[in-house]
Amino acid sequence: MADITKVGVVGCGLMGRGIAQVCAAAGYETVVREVAQEPLDTGLAAVHKGLDRLVEKGKLEKAARDATLANLRGTVDLADLANADIVIEAIVEDIAAKNELFGALDEMCPEHTIFASNTSSLTVTEMAAATARPDRFIGLHFFNPVPVMKLVEVVRTGGTSDESFDRVFEFASSLGKQPVACRDNSGFIVNRLLVPYMLDAIRAYEEGVGSIEDIDKAMTLGTGYPMGPFVLGDFVGLDTLYFITEIMYDEYREKRFASPPLLKRMYLAGYHGRKSGKGFYDYGGDVPVVSEFVKR
Ligand code: CAA
Ligand code: NAD
Repeated sequence: MADITKVGVVGCGLMGRGIAQVCAAAGYETVVREVAQEPLDTGLAAVHKGLDRLVEKGKLEKAARDATLANLRGTVDLADLANADIVIEAIVEDIAAKNELFGALDEMCPEHTIFASNTSSLTVTEMAAATARPDRFIGLHFFNPVPVMKLVEVVRTGGTSDESFDRVFEFASSLGKQPVACRDNSGFIVNRLLVPYMLDAIRAYEEGVGSIEDIDKAMTLGTGYPMGPFVLGDFVGLDTLYFITEIMYDEYREKRFASPPLLKRMYLAGYHGRKSGKGFYDYGGDVPVVSEFVKR
């Protein structure tokens, strides 16, 4: 199997931009693809800003920032990923969209290219089945914010070859991450445990256990979590969190994975969290305040 030198990333949203950044920073020639110029520009601008902030804080040499940026190129043309050794997909959490994408990539990429999905909860085996390379198909689940979070879950399906698994595990380490091996069960390790916790916080609020601010305060000060469950939900994206609940509930049929009514309504009303400017909190002012929507 060829060495990995060229990386393709699909999606330049919250996750794709971070994945592209860490790949470029690790010295890989990286091309990131978006559906249109505007989201691509937004994603790449966030990468620039994040790197500039690290330089300002004295955490990164200017030369390292410039080298990272020189390794990173954006495109709206999927064909620009055709010579990648690994393609990492980070588009919307929707099986039809992911299957369509992998089907198209399968036609254009050479035989040796490994396909990886950053899915949070979808079945990797199902995406692999949309291609003619299930042995070179894997889950590669990063955590938000990607440049900071050390963990990567490397998800092996029944069909992933040992060679592909070893290659991708090593690749994840080369990004400065700590990989763990997971089986292809919806949510893998972290979301299997984290998602019910976040959903239970919403149920606790719905049941009047405490206010949004107090539940967040309790979980940060009482357990040392860096973010309370509502701040974290907004950070992940409430659209993504809602999609994850639908998928995990479909897999396990257990109430703990089901969306509480409030989450569904927030998703439907466009309260998608920090990236949309409003979620459990409203981010329009100097400091976030609890949204009127959740109080009504
Ligand atoms: N990009 C790059 N770097 C970032 C960043 C970003 N978006 N946000 C913060 N940082 C860096 C800062 O530059 C800072 O670096 P230094 O310590 O080197 O200066 C460091 O992270 C800490 O940042 P801050 O001091 O500004 O803020 P903080 O101490 O509050 O930490 C945090 C921010 C790291 C995000 C922290 O709040 C945290 O760990 N939160 C929990 C995140 C989490 O649980 N993520 C997993 C979500 S679930 C998931 O990802 C899976 C899924 O499928 C849904
Ligand atoms: P996001 O909504 O921030 O970004 C998704 C991006 O993909 C959008 O910019 C969209 O324009 C783009 N896109 C959609 N279809 C595309 C296509 N065919 N080609 C190129 N770009 C396309 O979502 P996100 O939070 O970055 O999540 C992306 C994936 O990562 C999802 O599968 C999600 O479950 C997973 N994930 C999310 C988190 C998180 O905390 N948000 C953490 C780990 C994994």
